[in-house]
Amino acid sequence: MEIILAKSAGFCFGVKRALEMVQKALQDRSAPVFCLGPLIHNPAVVEELEQNGLQVIDNIRNLPAGRLVIRSHGVGPGVYREAAAQNLEIVDATCPFVKNVQQLAVFLVDQGYQVIIFGEKEHAEVAGVLESVGGNAFVIHGQEALPESGIGPKVGVISQTTQDIAGYQRLVSELIAQTKEVRVFNTICLATSQRQQEAAELSKKVDIMIVVGGRNSANTKRLTEISQASGTPTHQVESSNELKPEWFEGVQQVGVTAGASTPDHQIDEVIQKIRNLGGKQAVSAESIETKEN
Ligand code: F3S
Repeated sequence: MEIILAKSAGFCFGVKRALEMVQKALQDRSAPVFCLGPLIHNPAVVEELEQNGLQVIDNIRNLPAGRLVIRSHGVGPGVYREAAAQNLEIVDATCPFVKNVQQLAVFLVDQGYQVIIFGEKEHAEVAGVLESVGGNAFVIHGQEALPESGIGPKVGVISQTTQDIAGYQRLVSELIAQTKEVRVFNTICLATSQRQQEAAELSKKVDIMIVVGGRNSANTKRLTEISQASGTPTHQVESSNELKPEWFEGVQQVGVTAGASTPDHQIDEVIQKIRNLGGKQAVSAESIETKEN
């Protein structure tokens, strides 16, 4: 059984950067380090950080003096205000690509556009972008209908960084058919679109796909959906313990990919377990392509 690992599986730039910032902050034991929500959508990594002293909190009211980590998903202006009022030192790990989405939302509102955000309303990133414009934007997810209140003459569109490009293109085409001016920014991050494209290509070549990553990680879920859409049996797992031997019966080729918040050691453990179930040494999807070209 051949194991093919997607080229860009695992940590993205924004997650690596956030982890490094937190690890650095934790080295200085002079003040507590708080994180508003789990740093990344990966329970094992979060647990390890907590063991090293990170305190995950769900609101910042009445904190003692210390440092507050803003996650790569970013937050709205309210958290910065509240943190300043409490004299908390900010460790701002907002991914620069997410900051860009927030700034574009503000720009579009200032320019008089009706803003539409393509993304999940409950996701922290989208909540932060919405708050940046005082809630003055519509959020549309997947194939949801356009706002009932109607589309104005000038529409500005941005996307949550981890959404899929095909869905975004669908929404933009629908908008173009309905109004005169549509200003679109492609804010889907390159790491995300590459990973999704690779998942789509790899899943078409293999008999089964394994997607490694946190169950509440939006970008991991998207990889699973993309793989499933190609008709290949796809299983999303958080750890190697969840792999079931029967998934691999009669399988010749296994594709493996992982979300942006999945550390290399979790991917390695999954690959090792598949090897124990009869898999050969894993090869990168890159080397497969090179062989074919
Ligand atoms: Fe940033 Fe893209 Fe990762 S937006 S956090 S580099 S998935």
